[in-house]
Amino acid sequence: MAVEETHDGPATPAGPATPGGATAAPDGPATPTGTATPTGTATPTGTATPTGTATPTGMATPTGTATPTGTATPTDTSGAAPPSSRAGGGAAPAIEVRELVKSFGEVRAVRGVSFEVAIGEVFGFLGPNGAGKTTTINMLCTLTRPSAGEALVAGHDVVRERDDVRRNIGLVFQDPTVDGYLTAAQNLQLHAELYGVRSDLVRPRMRQVLEMVGLWERRGTAVSTFSGGMRRRLEIARGLMHSPRVLFLDEPTIGLDPQTRRSIWSYIRELKEQEEITIFMTTHYMDEAEWCDRIAIMDHGEIVALDSPEALKASVGTDRVTIQTDDNEAAIAALRSQFGLDAKLSEGAVTIAVAGGAQFVPHLFDEWDPSHPPIRGVSVSRPTLDDVFMSYTGTTIRDAEEDQSRHRNRVMMQMMGGGRR
Ligand SMILES: Nc1ncnc2c1ncn2[C@@H]1O[C@H](COP(=O)(O)OP(=O)(O)OP(=O)(O)O)[C@@H](O)[C@H]1O
Ligand SMILES: [Mg+2]
Repeated sequence: MAVEETHDGPATPAGPATPGGATAAPDGPATPTGTATPTGTATPTGTATPTGTATPTGMATPTGTATPTGTATPTDTSGAAPPSSRAGGGAAPAIEVRELVKSFGEVRAVRGVSFEVAIGEVFGFLGPNGAGKTTTINMLCTLTRPSAGEALVAGHDVVRERDDVRRNIGLVFQDPTVDGYLTAAQNLQLHAELYGVRSDLVRPRMRQVLEMVGLWERRGTAVSTFSGGMRRRLEIARGLMHSPRVLFLDEPTIGLDPQTRRSIWSYIRELKEQEEITIFMTTHYMDEAEWCDRIAIMDHGEIVALDSPEALKASVGTDRVTIQTDDNEAAIAALRSQFGLDAKLSEGAVTIAVAGGAQFVPHLFDEWDPSHPPIRGVSVSRPTLDDVFMSYTGTTIRDAEEDQSRHRNRVMMQMMGGGRR
């Protein structure tokens, strides 16, 4: 029996896990700033927080039976997902999306996105808060029904063949979902049972995935004592327990320190080497997007650019020159009138996109009129993904997120003011 979709919002798992879903996470201080030397490249930094996997409502077993309450019934003992459509080169893509749309009333969260992800690819969605990343993942994972358009995952339609899609995917939600009262091993055991992994395969697979994320030695420990990074790694291990063909990771490293984020990324890359798995992940961290084979930059529900990180950066074709002055507005006006340059205020400094930034700087100092505000500092950086984002959207991701946060605060203040009247 097919399980009806229960909601359009946060995912509701069948198991004891309590996944988040489309809610924005308490974001870590994403800092794609990166001061650069005239010859160097900017180094985006930033931190984030983790979360985890859970079993979505009505997650089907390998035989496709799910109970009316959405609890999976592990009847099939075949273990890993069947290899029928796990084709090699030249095979159908792991994910095919055509003109996918999702509206929540007036809010058009996803506005007609189209893309394909090849088998074995690490594909990332990069975008600021509210861009529509989680909503897209939720549609691909069958947790949210699209308003329009079509999507196939592992060759199956996300609306008409939901059970087939669910059988073939692993999902690590944006918000944490592992059960703190259980040990790491018990969390994985439960997940394996929900997915009908053959009992004799559970322990070897558990060992394999826990060793991959460096938690095998801690398998008997209650998860409540784990650090954020350990929990996140456990959630990734759990998402892999049933050997999915496609693993969805929604903000896999959000809130983690840079070192833990790097180690999670090396697990993800190792996973790609070890298993024939396709990885679809979302992030709003530039440095993370660099790990992907290809990325789609998403803004306001639309894909504004899609390519490999290298190709995207090359497409910008300009360096970024950042100038510190005491009067940014006057400096922007001066750059326009004297140099014909369209400078922008970005993250509190004047930013100009120019080809050959290192050559431009001496010219700038030579020509800078003494009547203009003095230049206090200057830096040049090669194009980063932030520049790519800026060139397609006119803002940096960080500024976009700050704008949204200001907007939210304004609305909240208005509501509070309204309440008092
Ligand atoms: N269940 C829902 N009901 C109403 N609006 C929703 C719902 N889920 C998402 N939205 C809205 O859709 C838009 C996209 O949200 P989504 O969670 O997909 O963004 P995101 O790119 O994942 O952001 P973040 O980086 O903060 O996780 C937002 O405006 C959000 O408020
Ligand atoms: Mg999200």
